[in-house]
Amino acid sequence: MAHPLPDALLALPHRREVPFARLTTLGVGGVCRWLFEPVSEAQAQAFVRACAREGLPWRVLGGGSNLVVLGDVAEPVLRLRLPAELVRTGLEVQAPASHGHIQLSAATAAMGLAGMEYASGIPGSVGGAMHMNAGAYGRELVDVLARYRFLTADGDLVEKAPEPGEFSYRWSVLGAGRVALGLTVRLAEGDPDRIRALVADYRRRRGTSQPLGRRNAGCIFKNPPGLSAGRLIDQAGLKGLRVGDAEVSPDHGNFLVNHGAATAAQFAELMAQVRDRVRSVHGVDLEPEVEIWAAPSPHSPITG
Ligand code: FAD
Ligand code: EPU
Repeated sequence: MAHPLPDALLALPHRREVPFARLTTLGVGGVCRWLFEPVSEAQAQAFVRACAREGLPWRVLGGGSNLVVLGDVAEPVLRLRLPAELVRTGLEVQAPASHGHIQLSAATAAMGLAGMEYASGIPGSVGGAMHMNAGAYGRELVDVLARYRFLTADGDLVEKAPEPGEFSYRWSVLGAGRVALGLTVRLAEGDPDRIRALVADYRRRRGTSQPLGRRNAGCIFKNPPGLSAGRLIDQAGLKGLRVGDAEVSPDHGNFLVNHGAATAAQFAELMAQVRDRVRSVHGVDLEPEVEIWAAPSPHSPITG
């Protein structure tokens, strides 16, 4: 039954059987059977091309901070390990997709450049932030994005400026089998004291409203237009609702936390209960904001 992965893939740096507890901030899920960690764009391209050639399904992982994994994952998983170099040219800063997002925000602030303060508390990688068009406090990545670079599903390399419709609230064109490789942000000359004050203010607001001391994946549901999912969950009386070690945070209704040993089944059950209760109390159907990786299909060709 075992599907031997092609030699072109096995030649790339990879690890076997890595628990998602170590790959995600939430810490729920089974094991990642094949974790490929290319250290260059050429290796990432070789990965995508080999999978495309063989018709192999695959996934891409960043910092795992927006991910709920509901079982083992047998498909090859790509996690970029590109050199963590930032290149500044005037008001523009270029970063690889595997660079830390918070670290990019901090580095641009240290350069005296204003515009990425909003990202100072959004964990994960630059690639994940590109895919999700991550944002906070009225700003999002596309607001500062000058150019971005990615591989198509066939492994072709594209670099372009963002166009209308390519990035919206917690969504981008970088799904659909594409791999973000890097970006260039365009920022503004800033006053270091003002940048520091803004970052401190965002940190304080986040620290008082979000359960940062527990394992979580950020907000679990998208805010419906004009509404706050957190407030809807709170008003439905669901804070503190618990299934095993999975709990609706008493601090923020849209954060579902793992007290340490939450299983995928417990987490999925808690998400379902929250959706059902919000639907019956408010008549609103909440849509997940997190990416959900379901257990592999029993028909998956990859078992080894
Ligand atoms: P992952 O979780 O690894 O992946 C998320 C998705 O992006 C997956 O579909 C994955 O396949 C895809 N992806 C990852 N890398 C690539 C790549 N190179 N190319 C293509 N696709 C890729 N988010 C916000 O927007 N605003 C917030 O204020 C915010 N606050 C948070 C606070 C906390 C405490 C936590 C834990 C999370 C928070 N998040 C927030 C969610 C999360 O941090 C962001 O969505 C983040 O940008 C995800 O990046 P990641 O690298 O961890 O992505
Ligand atoms: N609220 C409640 N009860 C709660 C939670 C919130 O009444 O349990 C109320 C708050 O008092 C506030 C309103 O709801 O009046 C909005 O809450 P908050 O300011 O915490 O923002 P949010 O809409 O819940 C969004 C993003 C966050 C981002 C913050 C700050 C979504 C789904 N969430 O949260 O992003 O950090 O704004 O800009 O868009 C994420 O995407 O993972 C995330 C954490």
